[in-house]
Amino acid sequence: MLRDSYFLPSPKHAVELRAFTHGLMPRTVPQMMHHFVEDWKSFGVDAWNHIPNHWKPESGEHVGWWTLPEYLGDHFIAPLIGAPKGTCILQPNVHWTVQCILSSRELLSGTRNKVILTDGEFPSVLHSVHQWADLLNIEVDCIPVTKGGIPREQIVSAIDHRTALVMLSHVGFTTGRKLPDSFIYEVGKKVHAHGGLLAIDGYHSIGASTATVQELDVDLYFGGLLKEGSGSSGNAFVYIKNGVDLTPRTTGWFGDASPFDFNTSPVPHPEVRARFKGGTSAIASLYHAVEGVRLLLSVGLRSVRQDSLSKTNYCIDRAQKAGIEIRSSLKEEERSAMFVMSLPQAHQLSAYLKSKHIYTDSRKGTLLRIAPFVWNTKDELEHTFHHIEEAVRKKLHLEMPPPITRGPVT
Ligand SMILES: Cc1ncc(COP(=O)(O)O)c(C=O)c1O
Repeated sequence: MLRDSYFLPSPKHAVELRAFTHGLMPRTVPQMMHHFVEDWKSFGVDAWNHIPNHWKPESGEHVGWWTLPEYLGDHFIAPLIGAPKGTCILQPNVHWTVQCILSSRELLSGTRNKVILTDGEFPSVLHSVHQWADLLNIEVDCIPVTKGGIPREQIVSAIDHRTALVMLSHVGFTTGRKLPDSFIYEVGKKVHAHGGLLAIDGYHSIGASTATVQELDVDLYFGGLLKEGSGSSGNAFVYIKNGVDLTPRTTGWFGDASPFDFNTSPVPHPEVRARFKGGTSAIASLYHAVEGVRLLLSVGLRSVRQDSLSKTNYCIDRAQKAGIEIRSSLKEEERSAMFVMSLPQAHQLSAYLKSKHIYTDSRKGTLLRIAPFVWNTKDELEHTFHHIEEAVRKKLHLEMPPPITRGPVT
């Protein structure tokens, strides 16, 4: 059972429902981190060229620190999102990837300078677009998200011959709503017909969606692994469709075609994905990057998705019976692993549940978010809803003092 492959939260009967913030640690991670220490100790500088292949020991394939971001891209990210080899690379975070995309020489040309997105994008995307618009001649078409979700028709009709890029979240980070595959495909078709690019931020769909980048026909797909993918910080990635030529102005010497020639001006790497490298790669984080992905691939994404849908269906049923307003979509094709309920005093409810060792999260004081994932059992969900219902019925959470947190995580 997959649950046994993760370190479960403490105390023993605690329920961790915050996969949308940071997934549980896979049990293989301590061993992988030990490998990092040993490789550094034993091989020193030579580890950049060659180390034992801890990721696929049976393969007989060569790995070294220098090319590990590409190697993990080919062997773990590509199968996760249905991409061909040579198109994916590990990234330090989404913010970096977005700087690479927006700074690319090929992105804007003449009157083609419009970037379309919504105001529901994560700040790594939204803020960056505004920052680059200050610097380059970018026209930002930022479409407001309404209570009913993202205005799909408005997005499609905004695309025209001036569109350089459309950037959308696969799953809204506050709503948990997933864009249907047919909509992404429709946007891509129109943007391609006009010569632009489609980039999708898949941070909240990674590991919990079966859609493949080739079926969706997107040009760029990026995200991080630290949520359902159970990686940690420093574990983001990008996919760049074959044939999409981008030369980020932010490329560093690690992404140069001949880094050790130390040329006086940069020479773009022949592989587009390698141009998404900056300065010296952070290596330690690559040792824990794909252990969670390995687990999900071992059971298959279809079964992960089926399990997630059956758990969110259960949540819908319980919430409806308790008269709780549901913010997630009831339609399966628009649902992610995140289940969002609208509840007054959600902060206090989340704090109350934490006092029972049920770990949820609240946003804006009115949204209670949970993500029942592969490590959760139906008994845990029953236990969670029992406490939510009891708290709401008896107003128990209103007696809680305001939650004390030492950081931004609720
Ligand atoms: C949709 C989305 N994109 C990106 C990020 C994180 O971006 P970064 O890697 O720049 O921290 C998050 C984090 O929760 C997110 O929800």
